[in-house]
Formats: sequence, C-alpha cells, structure tokens
Amino acid sequence: MLSLYTLILGAVSVYAAANYPPIPADLTTPVQQRIAIQSPNQISVAWNTYTKLAQACVQYGTSSKSLRSKACSQNAVTYPTSRTYFNTVQLTGLKPATTYYYKIVSTNSSTQQFFSPRVAGDTTPFTLNAVIDMGVYGTDGYTIDMDMSKRSTIPTLDPSLNHTTIGRLFNNLKQYEFIIHPGDLAYADDWYEKAHNFLDGTNAFEAILEQFYEQLAPISGVKPYMASPGNHEADCTEVPNTAGACAEGQRNFTDFNNRFGASMPKAFVSTSKSSAAKINANKAAQLAKPPFWFSFEYGMVHVTMIDTETDFANAPDGPGGSAGLNGGPFGFTNQQLEFIDADLASVDRTVTPWVIVAGHRPWYTTGTGCAPCQSAFESLLYKYGVDLAVFGHVHNSQSIVPIYNGTADPNGFKDPKAPYYIVAGGAGNIEGLSSASNPPSYISFAYDTDFSYATIQLADKNHMNINFIRSYTGEILKSQTLYKSHSHQFVRNI
Ligand SMILES: *[C@@H]1O[C@H](CO)[C@@H](O)[C@H](O)[C@H]1NC(C)=O
Ligand SMILES: *[C@@H]1O[C@H](CO)[C@@H](O)[C@H](O)[C@H]1NC(C)=O
Ligand SMILES: *[C@@H]1O[C@H](CO)[C@@H](O)[C@H](O)[C@H]1NC(C)=O
Ligand SMILES: *[C@@H]1O[C@H](CO)[C@@H](O)[C@H](O)[C@H]1NC(C)=O
Repeated sequence: MLSLYTLILGAVSVYAAANYPPIPADLTTPVQQRIAIQSPNQISVAWNTYTKLAQACVQYGTSSKSLRSKACSQNAVTYPTSRTYFNTVQLTGLKPATTYYYKIVSTNSSTQQFFSPRVAGDTTPFTLNAVIDMGVYGTDGYTIDMDMSKRSTIPTLDPSLNHTTIGRLFNNLKQYEFIIHPGDLAYADDWYEKAHNFLDGTNAFEAILEQFYEQLAPISGVKPYMASPGNHEADCTEVPNTAGACAEGQRNFTDFNNRFGASMPKAFVSTSKSSAAKINANKAAQLAKPPFWFSFEYGMVHVTMIDTETDFANAPDGPGGSAGLNGGPFGFTNQQLEFIDADLASVDRTVTPWVIVAGHRPWYTTGTGCAPCQSAFESLLYKYGVDLAVFGHVHNSQSIVPIYNGTADPNGFKDPKAPYYIVAGGAGNIEGLSSASNPPSYISFAYDTDFSYATIQLADKNHMNINFIRSYTGEILKSQTLYKSHSHQFVRNI
C-alpha cells in the first residue's frame, strides 16, 4: 500500500541529495588548500583531508626541484557533522619577499608556490585585494541562476571558476600579493534557498563548505588568504531554526573556528625603536583571538582584522544581539576592544606608514549601517588615524569620503584625519546584490549592477590607490587615491 509516508520518503530520495564533492580514492589527497601570513617569516599552510592523518607535513624550499625543508604537525581538528579533518602546518624561517615552492606530503599532491611575506618597513609598492560576501558557485550558489550577461565563461579555467570574482582573482594572480576576506565566506547556511536541500540541511551545509573552499583553492593555495568572521559564519537563524534544522556545525562559528583558528596570526612583534610600541604590540598579541580579531604587518601596511559580529556591547550576533544568532563570546568582556586599542597604539608610522582596519559590518553604507559597531569601533579608528577602513555585508561596492561621527573630513582625500571607508561586499553570493540607490551624500561612489571587489595599492608612503573592479570584465569602475602626509610617528587624534 502506498502510504503518504512512502510518498514523502520517495520525494526525499529524489530531492534530499546534498551536492557533496566525490571523496577521492586516495584519502590523503589534500583538498581546500589555503595559506595565510603568520609572522614576518612564517606562512601557515592549511588543508582538509577525508581521513585523519597521523601526521600532516609540508615540504618546501626556494627551488621547485629540491624542497629541502619539511614541517609537520599533529593538530588536526574536526567537528561532528564534518566529513573532513582540518590540518595546519607552519612554515617557519622563510626569507622575506621570496618565491617558495611547497608540496603537501601525500601520495596524491602536487607542488605549488607562494611569495613569502614582506617585512614591515619594506617600501616596495604592492597590491592587496579586498573581497567580501563571496559565496559558493554552482547549483547551491547564486551565479548559476543569474542573468547570463552578468556571468563570465572563462573558458580556459576549471568550470568551478565560473564564479566571476574567483575567476578574476585567478586571472589576475600576478597583480596582487594577498587577499583579505572579512566575512561571509561560503554562505553554507543559505542551503535552504535551494529546494533540493530542504530535507538534508546538515549535509547540504557541509557540502557547500566543501564545494566553496575547493573552488577557492586555486587562489587561496597560492596567495595568502586572510579571513575574519561575518554573520554567515555564525549561523543558525538564517535557517528556520526548527528541531533538527540547525546542525551542530552551524552554531557558534564552528566551521570557521576549526578552519582558520590555527592559521591566522595574532599580532606581530613590533620592529619599532620605541619601547612603548613594543609593549603595546606584545599586549595586542596577548589579547588577539584569531581567527576573530588579529593583526599583521606587510611591507608598508599594518592590517587589523576585527570582529563586528560578537564581543562588544550589543554585538549583532552575540548573545541577545539583534541577529538572534547567539554566537560567542570568544574573549573576556572588552577583550576585543582592548586588543584594538593596544594594536593600533603600537603602530609606528615610520615603519608601516599605512593602517588598514577590516571588518564585516559597515556603519557608513547604503541602506542601514551597524549602529553598535559604530559605537564600539569608530572612535578607536579615528583616534589612531586609521587610513582605510574596509567593510562588506551590504552586497555592493561603495566609496565613502573620509568621515568621522557623520561629518565629512574637511580635507577630503588630501591628508584627512578621519578614515576613508569602503564597502567591497559585491563579490557574489546566493543572496544577490543590494540596491545602492539614493546613497547618502557622504557616499561618493556606489555600484550594484554586477559583482565587484576592490584592489588596494600601497604605492608609496604617501599614496594609496583604491580601484573597484567589475569581476566579469576586469574593468575599473572607480579609482580613488588617498594622500596622507604621515608626518607623525604615532598618531593620536583624540
Ligand atoms: C588525486 O587528486 C585529484 C585532485 O587533485 C583527484 O581528482 C583524484 O581523484 C585523486 N586521485 C585519487 C586516486 O584519489
Ligand atoms: C561554466 O561555464 C561553462 C561555459 O558557459 C558552462 O558550460 C559550465 O556548465 C559552467 N559551469 C558551471 C559549474 O556552471
Ligand atoms: C561559542 O564558543 C565559545 C568558544 O568556544 C564559547 O566560549 C561560547 O560560550 C560559545 N557560545 C555559545 C552560545 O555556545
Ligand atoms: C558627534 O556628532 C553629534 C552631532 O551629530 C554631536 O552631538 C557629538 O558631540 C559628536 N561627538 C563627537 C565625539 O564628536
């Protein structure tokens, strides 16, 4: 007898099929490779495997033909709903600004390369990219359903690189040295947007993570990929939070924490001659909580990554926060704010003239900004003369005039005291783009018609060039130069 129950089961067997990538026959095969900057002469190499390795090792060297050094770890982590183990190995003692070759030790791996970090104070110009709100490509992602005129075909690449931003980052590999991605990475919690995932949410969530980080690997395996949290890493109430719908891995930044916890830096030892700077940098290193809040230095820039989701008063994803996501806290009360204060106070502009702060939720934006974020962070950014603040969350590109407390800096882009803010949240994801119509007067550029991201060129001690790039075509949508005199060794505006 064909009962309703059997009919439902039939429907389940047709539709309840999460799109897991195939498991390689050789279980030591490295997948989802990603590298990150760990210290002035250290790169972390992280990857996943479908088996727990007794030991995870990487061979490396400056010649592809002889990988003389080897580093190993036994720190593999995982969590109950994940099919994979997360491995992280530290490559230490690297010569700065040098091409290295590395091979993850496996019976099925190939040699890759990376460029080791520039030491703080290296004045060579370079470019980093800011991509935010990226998301998986394919049947569980957004781009496959998009208007074809807005998709690239990129015939010479792996089909998974049809994601126009991932494709552009791949095509332009020679033009930048590392990537910052402050939040909303895979959009795995949006699995419920596709009907085929309805009855298999736990697996669909994990399948999207596996797909996304594998799609990203051709970029993140060769360019340092610096990630910090967004609301989609949190994340449970984006799905109807009914019994069984919210799997273990979806709560409280679990995958994000397992994936990036051992591979992001804390804060660098200061190379300033000032003992106050050294003390503040040491304090920042104690207070850092990677992958949630941390900093690093690279050539002419000090980059501080912050957590706009948890760990400050009325944090939107914190317990009782407006998003109802009940994440964190990850530090003691005010730990993050004390970190930011010590970290920014430590920056010696005669060593790293430029300071960038990157986080997920903006307070100056089209639509509605994050008021608790502004209350928590804005005065710190202004006090220490942060040059550029990078955010996403709102799915478009925006250039905002240097501004403090709602008032545009009278100097504009010619030596402002206030930070220059950008939003680079248009990288592409299943939720689509956010309208940029009727922007407030302090927004000098807003773009919402196609996927985009930002390139940040550190040209010299006084000039930074920001370009917004249309991912599909590579065209520059907007260029903005920021001039700063950087005439004080330590900036204190308040
Ligand atoms: C080896 O790795 C490649 C991907 O790099 C994969 O496609 C292939 O299935 C793997 N081979 C085995 C035997 O697992
Ligand atoms: C990528 O684009 C090509 C060419 O348009 C298409 O044949 C292929 O199906 C696309 N791949 C995916 C995963 O959508
Ligand atoms: C989230 O994880 C952190 C760190 O493990 C923990 O301190 C916190 O209590 C967790 N929050 C919730 C709501 O489970
Ligand atoms: C910020 O601006 C408001 C008016 O919009 C003013 O009342 C307040 O004093 C200003 N705060 C600071 C710290 O400048």
